[in-house]
Amino acid sequence: MKIIVAEHAGFCFGVTKAVETVYEQIGKKSNLYTYGPIIHNESVVADLERKNVKVVNTPQELAEIRNGTIVIRSHGVSRSVYNQIKSQGLECVDATCPFVKRIHTIVDEESANGKTIIVIGNPTHPEVEGIVGWTNGPVFVIETPEEAQKFKVSADTEICLVSQTTYNYNKFKDTVEIFKQKGYNINIVNTICSATEERQTEADRIAGEVDAMIVIGGAHSSNTRKLYEICSQKCAYTYFIQTVDDLPGEFPQEVKTVGITAGASTPKNIIEEVQTYVRTKSDI
Ligand code: F3S
Repeated sequence: MKIIVAEHAGFCFGVTKAVETVYEQIGKKSNLYTYGPIIHNESVVADLERKNVKVVNTPQELAEIRNGTIVIRSHGVSRSVYNQIKSQGLECVDATCPFVKRIHTIVDEESANGKTIIVIGNPTHPEVEGIVGWTNGPVFVIETPEEAQKFKVSADTEICLVSQTTYNYNKFKDTVEIFKQKGYNINIVNTICSATEERQTEADRIAGEVDAMIVIGGAHSSNTRKLYEICSQKCAYTYFIQTVDDLPGEFPQEVKTVGITAGASTPKNIIEEVQTYVRTKSDI
């Protein structure tokens, strides 16, 4: 069995930086928290828990903390969360990915200049919630081309459109096309991060070349789900797994080539484990 592992599989630079930041703080700070799980990976989060790093999920939970340090993960947070951390006298260590920070700056400035903001992405994803929390006026989150079709504001509305960093690039192009046809005065900024774009393009190519495709990542990881979406369009046997235990005992007989890719929160060792497992299968 031939195995092709994507070069752009696993931790992106933003996630690497965020995880390293938390580990660097351990031992230096006594009450250490991350705002939301640092990454969508249960084994990393469990390891941090053992090292006494707690997770705070909401402004209400944050309000309970009297002293300590809050690490902001790569997804970023809204302006109000920063303000809350400051007003409670807590220390803030900011590991927001610079690509996400850039979106905060764009929507902050553009909406302060009177533009209506459109974010292409999943409205309930923490990154999108954070972006929305940096706007100073009207903001809409559009998740699908169908929603874009239905979108309507007055013809003289000036719009600035950005996207969630991990949005599906092809879907973004389709959605943007719909907005262009509506004739609005619209400033489109493609804020899909290059790591995501490269990962998706490579996954799409590999999925077209193999008989089975394995996509590794957390069940809640939106970028992994998108990889799965892309791969399953090209490859009928596409498996979405979190760890090697989720793989089937056997691959269908006609499978001779297997591709492997992984979302941005998947540590290298899990990718290697999967690779080893597939290799042992092919030795049978
Ligand atoms: Fe940043 Fe892109 Fe990763 S936005 S966190 S480098 S997927």
